[in-house]
Amino acid sequence: MTNQQPPASILAGAGPSASPAPTYYQRHIFFCLNERKNGEACCAQNQAQQAFDHCKSLVRAAGLAGPGQVRVNKAGCLDRCAAGPVAVVYPEAVWYSYVDLQDIDDIVQTHLQGGQVVERLLVPAHLGR
Ligand code: FES
Repeated sequence: MTNQQPPASILAGAGPSASPAPTYYQRHIFFCLNERKNGEACCAQNQAQQAFDHCKSLVRAAGLAGPGQVRVNKAGCLDRCAAGPVAVVYPEAVWYSYVDLQDIDDIVQTHLQGGQVVERLLVPAHLGR
């Protein structure tokens, strides 16, 4: 199994016959904003806060923020530091590594708004901490 698609049973609920539970948000995007003071690599060293702020602004400006739509959240270390800076979109569990604000533009427009994965920004499945 890749890290891109959770099993259908997880999306559907408790068991194979359960119907999907209504979700409060259609999608969540979590940005790792972890900062390490000991000099070890962390997402905060790579403008993660700026990317988070930019994403939040774009989502609001596009009218995507709120119940039934999109929530942009801060997160601590997501334990995929080797690919940092990272963000993950649920419920699809799609992991992104971004370099600049243009990448955030693409994630918002293509995935959060358009529902399509931005293939060029995917974190390789083997990269963890
Ligand atoms: S510091 Fe960002 S994933 Fe660990």
